[in-house]
Formats: sequence, structure tokens, C-alpha cells
Amino acid sequence: MKEERGQWASHIGFILAAAGSAVGLGNMWKFPGKVGAYGGSGFILAYLIGVVFIGFTVMMAELVVGRATGKNAIGAFKSLSKRWTFIGVMGAVTAFIILSYYAVVGGWVLKYIWAYLQGGTFGGDTTAYFTGFVSQAWEPLIWCAAFMLITVLIVVRGAEKGIERVSKVIMPVLFLMLIAIVIRSVTLPGAGEGLSYMLSFNAENFSVTTIVAAIGQAFFSLSLGAAVIITYGSYVPKSENLSKSTALICGLDTCVALLAGFAIIPAVFATNTDLGMGGGFAFMALPNVFAQMPMGWFFGLLFFVLLLFAAITSAISIMEALVAFVTEECGTRRVPTTLILAGIMFLFSVGYSLSQGAVDLRLPWFDFKSGLQMLPMGTVMEYLTDNLFMPLGSLFLCIFVGWIWGAQKGIAEVEQNGKFHFGLKKVWSVSVKYICPVALIVILFYSLVLGIGLS
Ligand code: TRP
Repeated sequence: MKEERGQWASHIGFILAAAGSAVGLGNMWKFPGKVGAYGGSGFILAYLIGVVFIGFTVMMAELVVGRATGKNAIGAFKSLSKRWTFIGVMGAVTAFIILSYYAVVGGWVLKYIWAYLQGGTFGGDTTAYFTGFVSQAWEPLIWCAAFMLITVLIVVRGAEKGIERVSKVIMPVLFLMLIAIVIRSVTLPGAGEGLSYMLSFNAENFSVTTIVAAIGQAFFSLSLGAAVIITYGSYVPKSENLSKSTALICGLDTCVALLAGFAIIPAVFATNTDLGMGGGFAFMALPNVFAQMPMGWFFGLLFFVLLLFAAITSAISIMEALVAFVTEECGTRRVPTTLILAGIMFLFSVGYSLSQGAVDLRLPWFDFKSGLQMLPMGTVMEYLTDNLFMPLGSLFLCIFVGWIWGAQKGIAEVEQNGKFHFGLKKVWSVSVKYICPVALIVILFYSLVLGIGLS
């Protein structure tokens, strides 16, 4: 049976669904952590430049390919030029790997909400609590399965009835909750130091590594290079002004990242928490920060609920890209397809989860600086997507859109025979043909040759 192909029901529904994909753990968890790790304002500045000059261009390239073809990411390239189908395939593989570990972290978030509901004391030592939790074999997997199930339950209902409706409720709520936390954080005594750390520019903290890390972060945060935005673009009606929507989505995502920074950094300074934040930052440092502020239990719970909401709208976007591809290319039905995909993905989640400490699972990873090394499976999964597939997929996409399909066709898709005025078309064309490919090659060079991680 051929499934009906959906379309977004409204302008705001599309914008919120796409912003929901973009706004995720990347904004709430990785962004503030990186602002801390890379010295504050310099990173923020580099990030803004990355979003404006590179993120915007690549996001629009994905949206035009999606809408012009009205197909899932693989179908889209197949119909434009069979030879380039591999870009779609690479995107789908990236999406698959990302969701398999995203669901594990989503499970941790669920566990923390549960812990808050039970009093949120974390046994008095959040670091021991977190490392103890993730190095168990079974419990994290159960929470991961619960997160995957929520994702599946939304995605089986389809783009409009499931994703759009959920995003229209979740996104405004998320925004309000975040503002509440920002107000709490910036009014803490001693918060000013954190604010000036974020706002005053310090040239010492600015280097090429900062720029590379910031651009890598922009890619992840905008959900680029993973078939997702192409798929969402394919549900956009022709009556939508794509250049404006792209600006809105990028703008919303950046606002949320900055707000998350303002919610977290001042509180971290005010409570004298160590800024050395690694991957477990949200789970080890933040509960401590909340514990030390007035009404901390409430704000801690609020933060983790917010994290869950953000993670769910991103997870459904990744799942949707895969489901659209399998149902359309193989002619299968949505419900069994989603369930089977989630099942296979869960096997990879098991690997990611166990490699956090329960079992010494390792996979090979190569870069020219350190050579061939055996790293924990979870780390390799992150490197593979963040350092290799996302930038490489976007590089090919830019080459394809800029040179093979032609930037003119992309511009025509935005303009719809003059219906919309695309003021930045010259800039976009230069960016997609030259600026983005060069920037992406530099990023790949940094990650694969110099071994500098983007994640
Ligand atoms: N952008 C999301 C975040 O910031 C994560 C995400 C969703 C993603 N879909 C993606 C990342 C596709 C890369 C590709 O957390």
C-alpha cells in the first residue's frame, strides 16, 4: 500500500517542527559546555559567524533540495542525479548513528527527571551518582528504551499529525521554561562574573581551534548533514518563503543556545562550580549548581524536563528522516517500519551505553595525528558523525547544489517564479559554491589530520 505523503499544515507548524529538530541537547548541553571549555565570548562570536555564513547556507541548500523534489533525502538525490544518491545514503547513516546515541542520552535525562521527583539529592555526590549510573549494564538501557518508545509513538502518527502537533505545544513551553531559568540564574548573587565572561571579548581565547569547534557545533545544532532538514523541506508547501524560514529557524536555534548559555554560565560562576566541563557536564556539574541555589529543586527539575522536551523534538526529526526514506523507497508501511528501525537502532544504543563503563567495548578510529587507535565504541560513534560524516555530507551537498544541480536552480526554487524576493541570492550562491566548501574542507582537515575533535 502506498502511504500518502504529508505536508506541514501551517507556516508556524513547519517553523516550530524544524526549530524543534534544531533545538536539542546540542543547545542545552553542548553549547554552554563549549562556551565554558573555549573561553566564553570568543567561542560565542565564532559560533554566530558560523551560523550566519555557513549554517544558513547549508540549511537553505537542504531545504531547497527537499522541497524541489518533494522526496526523502535518498529519493531526492536519486531523482536529481543518480550518481549523487550516496549523499542521501550518507545522511541516512549519519542520522541512524546519531539517534542511536541520542536516545541513550535522552534516557539519562529521563532518569534524572525521575531522580528529581524522588527528592533530587543524588546521594550527595553528583559525579559518583552519574558515573555509577552510566556504568551499570541494565538500568540505562531501560531508560533508553523508554525514550525510544516516546519517539516512536510520535513518529508513527506522521509529520503533520504527530511531529507538527507535538512541536507546536512543546516549543513555546520550552521557551518559557528556559526564560524562567535564565531569570533565576542571572539574578543570583555573583552572577555578574559569569555574564562578563560571556560578554567581554578576550583575544587570548580566540584561535583557529575555537572557530573550528564553533562551526562544528553550529552544524550539529542546526541538524545539518544528516538527511533531516532535506526531509523536513520535502513537506514544505510551495507557498512558503524558504529564505525567510531558513533565517527564522537559524535565528530561533541560536536564540535558544544563547539563552541556555545565560541560564547556565552565570549560575555556574555564582555557585563557584568548576568550569572544566566535559561531556557529562549537564549530569555532573549542573545538579550541584541547582542544589546550591534558592528553589534549586524546582529549577533543577524544570531544567531536565526542558532538556527532555528539546531532546524529543530532535529525536523525532531524525527518526522521521529514516522512516520517510524506508517507507518511500521500499514501499513499506509506517508503523512496522518505525518499530523495526527503532529495534535495530536500539542494538547500537546498547553498544553506546555499555561502552560508558559497563563493558570495555572498543572500535578502531584513525586520524593522522594519533594514528590508528582503539577507542570506546561510544566515542567512535560520536567522532564518526560529528567529525566525519556531518561535515563530509555537507561538503558534498554544497558541491552538488552549487556546481552540479546549480545554485540557480536552488534560487529559482526559493523565488517560485518571482513570487518571493530573495535579496541575498548572490551571497548565497557564492557561499554555497566557494565559502562553505572551503570552510568544510578546513574543518575536515582539522578533525582528520590534526585530530582536533569537533564534538
Ligand atoms: N540539532 C539537534 C541538537 O542540537 C540534534 C539533531 C537533531 C541533529 N537532528 C539532527 C544533529 C541531525 C545532527 C543531524 O541537539
